[in-house]
Amino acid sequence: MDIVRIFDTTLRDGEQSPGATLTQPEKLEIARQLESLGVDIIEAGFPVSSDGDFESVRAIASEIGGSTICGLARCHPKDIERAGNAIKPAKSGRIHLFCATSKIHREHKLRKGKEEIIKLAIDSIRAALEYTSDVEFSPEDASRTEMEFLEEITHAAIEAGATTINLPDTVGYATPAGYGHIFAHLIEKLPIIRARNVYLSAHCHDDLGMAVANSLSAVQGGARQVECTINGIGERAGNAALEEIVMALRTRGDYFKAKTRIDATKIYPTSRMVSSLTGLMVQRNKAIIGENAFAHEAGIHQDGILKYRETYEIMDPKTIGLPTNSLVLGKHSGRHAFKDRVTQLGYAVTDEQVEAAFVKFKTLADKKKEVFDEDIEALVDDQLELTRGVFELVNYQIFTGTSTIPTATVTLKDSAGERLQDASVGDGPVDAIYSAIQRLTGIKVTLTDYRIRAVTKGKEALGEVQVELEHSDRKIRGRGLSTDILEASALAYLAAINRLRSMANRENLMSPHVSV
Ligand code: KIV
Ligand code: ZN
Repeated sequence: MDIVRIFDTTLRDGEQSPGATLTQPEKLEIARQLESLGVDIIEAGFPVSSDGDFESVRAIASEIGGSTICGLARCHPKDIERAGNAIKPAKSGRIHLFCATSKIHREHKLRKGKEEIIKLAIDSIRAALEYTSDVEFSPEDASRTEMEFLEEITHAAIEAGATTINLPDTVGYATPAGYGHIFAHLIEKLPIIRARNVYLSAHCHDDLGMAVANSLSAVQGGARQVECTINGIGERAGNAALEEIVMALRTRGDYFKAKTRIDATKIYPTSRMVSSLTGLMVQRNKAIIGENAFAHEAGIHQDGILKYRETYEIMDPKTIGLPTNSLVLGKHSGRHAFKDRVTQLGYAVTDEQVEAAFVKFKTLADKKKEVFDEDIEALVDDQLELTRGVFELVNYQIFTGTSTIPTATVTLKDSAGERLQDASVGDGPVDAIYSAIQRLTGIKVTLTDYRIRAVTKGKEALGEVQVELEHSDRKIRGRGLSTDILEASALAYLAAINRLRSMANRENLMSPHVSV
């Protein structure tokens, strides 16, 4: 079996999903989880795009030793210098250079000719090699680039010293057979690829829903690196989903004759963490990690499963670390059992996070007779919301009813420990709480999305609220968890406001989406 390297770009292309902006501690948290998942290369960001991105890549490079840490750069000296300095502390660091090569990008975006682009690529690769021997080059929009030019620039990039050539389907235009053919063709036409042991890499977007199929076809054509994101998040319709690539190669190894180094049992907790920190929910019927992915509704199917699981299940849910939904702990369970369960669920979290989740678990176990894996996950995910600290909810009181104007009194504590209290009316109890919080924090925001769900079944279930707020054209989200849905609503709103404050504090010189 050949090994296919997994290059995860959740923290770079994934973070380019609208509304998915992450703080530096959140990026570090995800990077730790990706390392424990066994990702070969983590693309940690685009260092020139902002001071915040530079710092995040540097912090990840300083701490994570089990994966190669990569920074993205355009073929510009300033980009290369920023990326080179950001990855400098890494045990193993990579610079990923890109420059558009398709006719449409050459003529309308870059306004540069082929020769000029080749020279730019060569000069940039040489400059990047001053910082690291591991340099990846991407001819952006490769799938729409004329084959002859693609051969020419690939050859030139390898001669200049690039060790990985990534061939992006930037706009999700490729078809599986066509995309796979590009790889097979280049390998046949350019002996330098084999002679220098260069990795060809696939990078697919999902505009036509073919990102995963295209990536797998690239593997059949000879790609030995796949670029992907957790839950398939990314620009527009997203990138190829890591969990789908990994499980397809694992389940159909007989067909693809290739495998990855991913620890599949960490897939589910990693997916949960990314969903929780980015606020991008996973659709119920999403392959591998959706809520329905292993649910069997039809009677005939249920009967088959009970007789022999493999009649209707091609993967064992245990292999992706899916919780068994078994009753695990109760109010007499101790710290040790709790910590054990968190580890079994696949989380790579700190002792302080487990301790804080344990305190909440005890409160929950007092209210709820049965504590399920899903409850524990929600408590741990809640600890991963790292934006607390500016305003904290002390308590709220609500006066409401069918013939009363809902009125909320809210008490908050600010970072100096000072108690703030105010009251407000609203269209409903949640609205009244939110306007009291706005008065207290003095931050004017618009609520653009509000979602509520029960984490498990039953009337004592934990309620999870997710909100999206808009402030100066920026969308910010927050999440709150409690058996009391009004408290969960207040916590979600405060989490978003705290996130907004912490982002404003590290506000950047440039937008994260630098024009290319
Ligand atoms: O989709 C794309 O072309 C990219 C490049 C920066 C590799 O993300
Ligand atoms: Zn991309």
